Amino acid sequence: MIAKIKGTNDILPQSVGEGIFVSQKWQELEAAIRKIAENFRYEEIRTPAFEYTELFVRGLGDVTDIVQKEMFTFVDRGDRSLTLRPEGTASVVRSLIENALHRKQNVNKLYYIGPMFRAERPQKGRYRQFHQCGVECLGSDSPLMDVEVMLIFWQLFRSLGLSGLNLVINSVGCAECRPNYQAELQSYFSDKLDRLCSDCNDRYGRNVLRMLDCKNERCQSILDDAPPIEGNLCESCSSSFDAVRRTLDMLEVPYTVSARLVRGLDYYTKTAFEIIHNGIGAQGTIAGGGRYDGLVEAAGGNALPAVGAAFGMERLLLAMEAEGVNQRLHHGVDFYVVALDETRGAESFKFLNELRCAGFCAEMGEPGRALGKQLKVAAKVDARFALFTGGAEWNEGTLVVKDLAAQQQREISVEGDYLEELAAMLQA
Ligand code: HAM
Repeated sequence: MIAKIKGTNDILPQSVGEGIFVSQKWQELEAAIRKIAENFRYEEIRTPAFEYTELFVRGLGDVTDIVQKEMFTFVDRGDRSLTLRPEGTASVVRSLIENALHRKQNVNKLYYIGPMFRAERPQKGRYRQFHQCGVECLGSDSPLMDVEVMLIFWQLFRSLGLSGLNLVINSVGCAECRPNYQAELQSYFSDKLDRLCSDCNDRYGRNVLRMLDCKNERCQSILDDAPPIEGNLCESCSSSFDAVRRTLDMLEVPYTVSARLVRGLDYYTKTAFEIIHNGIGAQGTIAGGGRYDGLVEAAGGNALPAVGAAFGMERLLLAMEAEGVNQRLHHGVDFYVVALDETRGAESFKFLNELRCAGFCAEMGEPGRALGKQLKVAAKVDARFALFTGGAEWNEGTLVVKDLAAQQQREISVEGDYLEELAAMLQA
């Protein structure tokens, strides 16, 4: 047997799937995403799953972990280097420039749902193919839009029933003020390198800001005492960050400011944020994002301010599972037709079809199969009611309906408007 690639997952039908990898949960999550995106007036964009490697190297930064270690890159038959997208923002920016979306409207509010690929070491919540939902607002420099992208996810997660969430924000400055801060960090760390881990030492020369993200126990006290960026922010970054905080306060959205929040991608400017869930272990960051005012220009377009964020759908479903709110995304069969007479299977099938045409989720047992066996299947598919066809009552124009949870039976006439009666029973 050829097995699936490590770090990838099959999302199976509800009848056989387990945990978060059940297709119905994904469908319902996607429906919830589309609904909230519509409410916030974000429109869907779908970009290819692979792009020229150069787009990600230039877009994400050639010293980031993703570009240095985690991309699935290959050379095609025409000798071009291609990469499976590790994230969605660079592709959205490429598409915006290529299709001149910014000329068609000043502000483009876009969202996407789809698989992303990173060659990371697989563990719970960290996969090689995973799925992101992202939102990108391109063309506005208003801090209100920073808050808007936070709110979309915050409200979505809350509406799905999650409560163990922390919104953490910071400002990472811009091309004008960040170099001063980087120099200050370098001088702070310069005489402490022998007490820091090898990753920190590596990042010291490569990308000093990322040292603040180190999780190694022995580095924590030194990192905690590092100078915060706040005093180094230029006027524009500082007033933008103030506005973000004021707006969150006004909206009564709880958040914490962490001077150590720096993101793993180089394109961020000003606001950076993450939404963290405390119940799913090491990979607790469900969503991350921020402003990226320099990316459109770096990718070959005109300067255009932008802000966005993405969340990992696997991690969100894991958080829902940890909090036991997954059940909300679970529907069984409405009516299971127990067909008692083998010779009248077609008649039961016609009845089944009427139920389906009326919009019910309906399934039927094998006509003539033992009653107990059919009821067992009905329980397995989580049916609310069993409907008996082909028996003595059925012959007299009566439908026997059994509530499978309450184990109670009643009869309704099939001469009258029985579909309406069945709909009312489902609502009850
Ligand atoms: P990111 O922080 O790299 O940001 O990824 C966003 C989310 O994707 C993470 O918080 C996590 O939930 C999920 N994720 C990342 N890697 C994995 C993995 N290996 N397995 C499972 N889930 C994963 C971005 O990708 C940016 N493009 C977000 C953004 C959009 N910023 C501005 N606009």
